[in-house]
Amino acid sequence: MSLKITGTGRGLPQRIVLNRDLEEFLDTSDKWIRERTGIEERRICVQESLTDLAYEASIKALEAAGKKACDIDYIICSTIGGDYITPSLACSLGQRLGVVCPAFDLNAACTGFIYALDLAQSLLNDKKASSVLVVGAERMSAFTDWTDRSTSVLFGDGAGACLCEPGSALKFLYTDSKGDVDILYSRTGSGNSPFAKDVSEKGYLHMTGQEVFKFAVKSFEKHVELATKALEIETDDIDLYLLHQANKRIIDFAGQRLGLDAKKFPINLTRYGNISSASIPLLMDELVRDGKIKKGDKIFCSAFGAGLTSGSCVLEWE
Ligand code: ACO
Repeated sequence: MSLKITGTGRGLPQRIVLNRDLEEFLDTSDKWIRERTGIEERRICVQESLTDLAYEASIKALEAAGKKACDIDYIICSTIGGDYITPSLACSLGQRLGVVCPAFDLNAACTGFIYALDLAQSLLNDKKASSVLVVGAERMSAFTDWTDRSTSVLFGDGAGACLCEPGSALKFLYTDSKGDVDILYSRTGSGNSPFAKDVSEKGYLHMTGQEVFKFAVKSFEKHVELATKALEIETDDIDLYLLHQANKRIIDFAGQRLGLDAKKFPINLTRYGNISSASIPLLMDELVRDGKIKKGDKIFCSAFGAGLTSGSCVLEWE
């Protein structure tokens, strides 16, 4: 595998929505949300488009890598939905960046960032590209039924970007999907087709939370076993575990089952909620900029989401 991450960046909406703000229109409480999820606040798009957030994240990643937009050979955006159904978010981002390289979106729900890294490493490996911009960008507020307390308190909006270039940082990558659309889904609907039998509901997210919880913990354990075997290392040799920021209880539980120190599991879901596939690159950017990810550190990234998809990778930071 020939990939290293040479620059990271993030883009977030201005508007901060506190748990208390949700109490105004939902039968919920700050206490319930904190205790059951760890989330204290989230960012929600008011004026920003998703392209705005992806652009901000991308410019910062390029600056950090010392590169210009014209250096990008490929743009891969991971998202469950951009500003348009078509064209892709990657194309609207490409237009904003002023580049004409291939650009496409990938939808593997919350696992999308890991899937995108996998494709980026293939492009770099095959020498089809020497720099691939990978962006996880999600506007979860647009897919949320704001009358449903069981889902709407969980999500937020944001973007995280990475510039990927040839290198040997990526040591392990695994992805899979279980094929279960009933536990977690959002339908596209049939529009106003006069021929469709059912006029589907709007595309809001539906989730059987406890099933997702179990799947998340099982997937993480399986991936850790695969990675440690493949790399012939111990779980403790990993410096940081960057887990998909869905719920603090999932992260705590996963760490405890492996007997690992909670300090190895950084979180930012307290401030942003679950931003689907943007959550890992955004967390990575914060840690890199805070000097908490350093050269030589072994970083385990792991995500799970609708599909049900799951994926993990190990990076030895260069
Ligand atoms: N405020 C107050 N009460 C609530 C709320 C709320 N926001 N939501 C649910 N409740 C109530 C329920 O109605 C239920 O009440 P009852 O006991 O009277 O029936 C009670 O709280 C417990 O509900 P549970 O669903 O059992 O709560 P649980 O502890 O399982 O927590 C949660 C729910 C937070 C969703 C948890 O299951 C979870 O985090 N699951 C994983 C979700 C996840 O990771 N999703 C990520 C994937 S998203 C993607 O891929 C796009």
